Amino acid sequence: MGLLRFLKCAVNCVAIFAVFVTVILVLPGLPPHNIQFTSYDVPPTKRLEGPLKINRKLDNAEKLFENILKGPESLVYHDGVLYTGVHGGQVVKIIDNNLIPFVKFGKPCNGIHEEHICGRPLGLHIDSKNNLYVADAYYGIFKVNISTGESIQLVSPDTVIEGRKPKLFNSITVASDGKIYWTDSDSNFDLKNLVFTTFADGTGRLLRYDPVTKTNTVLMDRLHFANGVALAADESYILVAETFKFRIMRYFLRGQKKGRSDIFVDGLPGNPDNLKIDNQGNFYVALVIAREDDQAPALILHIGKYPLLRKFLSRSLALIQTGLTLADSIFPHIYLKKAIHASAHAETLMPLLPQIQRVTIVKLNKEGEIIDSLHSIDGLISGICEVEFVNNYIYLASPFNHYLARVKLNKF
Ligand SMILES: *[C@@H]1O[C@H](CO)[C@@H](O)[C@H](O)[C@H]1NC(C)=O
Repeated sequence: MGLLRFLKCAVNCVAIFAVFVTVILVLPGLPPHNIQFTSYDVPPTKRLEGPLKINRKLDNAEKLFENILKGPESLVYHDGVLYTGVHGGQVVKIIDNNLIPFVKFGKPCNGIHEEHICGRPLGLHIDSKNNLYVADAYYGIFKVNISTGESIQLVSPDTVIEGRKPKLFNSITVASDGKIYWTDSDSNFDLKNLVFTTFADGTGRLLRYDPVTKTNTVLMDRLHFANGVALAADESYILVAETFKFRIMRYFLRGQKKGRSDIFVDGLPGNPDNLKIDNQGNFYVALVIAREDDQAPALILHIGKYPLLRKFLSRSLALIQTGLTLADSIFPHIYLKKAIHASAHAETLMPLLPQIQRVTIVKLNKEGEIIDSLHSIDGLISGICEVEFVNNYIYLASPFNHYLARVKLNKF
């Protein structure tokens, strides 16, 4: 009897769930709107052998400014000063052991849950004329005089570029002719809604801003989260990290292939974030989330193949957000505002991912071949998004960490 009742109940539960899933999938007009979900596949992860063999070069990292420096993302060193962008919207200067607020583009705000008001600098670059360029996720592209801190906005979020407005300003670099290369990670979702970008088809773009004509040109489109950029030492091509396809694309700026693009490297053992070129013309790629093919739950790594699942997850998440927003409009409360902010933020996604205690930085030569890698496996650090070499140290930034990590180079 008991078993029969249980079976009946189970059948009912499954039926109710199936109806629920179907309704979510087929009901027209549910948010998010105008989003495509098509099937795609990514090549398997490269094995951790040869130049990718695990080592412990980044173990025993030092943590600087613990609980003071929150979410340092992007790092540039210039003339004795290390610049980084932090939670709250500031670009800060680090000089010796001092932290000095430098410039901010957002408005005063009441905490991280108001990130879209605070602003969030994600990309930094300093050119040969001592201008600091900043990509602020919510506020646009800025040029800053590094001695005075005066800034001008070059690209605003209201600029329509080939039919679409930028939604998530992310990375930036500047060529010797003054042209600015930058990424808009996604055309539909801003930084606080990053989780949606993992489900939806990519709408990220690589763009070029010409400071003479003050116009933007789209160089690459449909990137699945357009992230870090780096110019080749001879400026013959530009690289762009396509985070959710585990690969780096190359766009040719000169020569026979000018205007064309190809895959520079794929199958990376993690999601590539920011790129940095060294003085030999090699690139350091920080993998912000580690990936292993046989790691459970591996579904998130193969999610591209299941467009209906992606649509279901997107619509469910959008419904939760709609509910929370409605609740907050009736009973405004700080916890509801925090829940809305957290509901689709990358920091919410992190605990749902396979927990791999590995940080990996991949070194590529100018042909895109992996020539070396740096790892940490002691679990001290995680979520590293960019590296910068200063004196005898490698500095490791992360939007998720509440410190700045560094490791002494003599261990190499
Ligand atoms: C920065 O401002 C100072 C003072 O106004 C000026 O002398 C300098 O040329 C400016 N630097 C740049 C790169 O424009």
